[in-house]
Amino acid sequence: MALFEAIGLRKRFGGVEALRGVDLAVRPAEVLGLMGDNGAGKSTLIKIICGAYRPDAGELRMDGEPVSFRNPRDAVDRGVSVVFQDLGLVDTRDVATNVFLGREPHRRGLVDARRMRREAREVLDTLRIHISSVRLPVGGLSGGQRQSIAIARAVHEGGRLVLLDEPTAALGPEQQRNVLDLIGDLRSQGKSVVMVSHNVDHVLAVADRVAVMRGGVVAGVREISETTAAEIVGLILGDTASSLLTDVPTRPE
Ligand SMILES: Nc1ncnc2c1ncn2[C@@H]1O[C@H](COP(=O)(O)OP(=O)(O)O)[C@@H](O)[C@H]1O
Ligand SMILES: [Mg+2]
Repeated sequence: MALFEAIGLRKRFGGVEALRGVDLAVRPAEVLGLMGDNGAGKSTLIKIICGAYRPDAGELRMDGEPVSFRNPRDAVDRGVSVVFQDLGLVDTRDVATNVFLGREPHRRGLVDARRMRREAREVLDTLRIHISSVRLPVGGLSGGQRQSIAIARAVHEGGRLVLLDEPTAALGPEQQRNVLDLIGDLRSQGKSVVMVSHNVDHVLAVADRVAVMRGGVVAGVREISETTAAEIVGLILGDTASSLLTDVPTRPE
């Protein structure tokens, strides 16, 4: 059974129909690449799944049961966590605090910093994230480390479904590899990941399946083992692709 399903999702912003009936299922312990041109509706879909937006129509299900999220906290409580592109880290605070952001444990009325440091270290170790000290302010860390900390926070929230918006976009090649490895580790630990990406190579490298959005719908879903970069690019571009890739005039109707 699917861990998560979106059925017939619609979302309009004024005159713009961002989602026109999106159907998508996420299996347990899979990495699903979510691709599509700018404006295809990827971010809107992610924001609905994580509870930041309410859909105008359609349904969300977890474990086959209808769910509705009033806000992101609701979604977190049901096991859906998100890492947006800006990561949402507080640069002046240390690694441990950022793993707990907004959920700091208290002891005798004070933030329990020792427990935060201990648990943050455990999460980082479990995810094989190499950071020398959880007392370091995150502002001084590399882009890859910062992305990893934001993912660690999502995992620590208890996320069974982790949504990542362009997790490798701002990184150099070596850090991209580290983050892709981390995404593979999440799957090994039984998490499901939806990874928005513009990079076909990254999707081919780490995903089990790819869903391609175009014009506010899911234009196609493929098993990575049964598709090619060319087919994925064709799905992303749609009709534009055939006119760009062939010189043959189209047959009159
Ligand atoms: N908050 C908003 N207000 C108005 N229009 C929006 C808003 N968010 C997205 N849109 C529009 O909805 C469409 C889909 O956008 P988006 O989901 O951001 O696509 P993607 O992430 O695939 O680039 C675009 O036409 C975009 O301009
Ligand atoms: Mg977007």
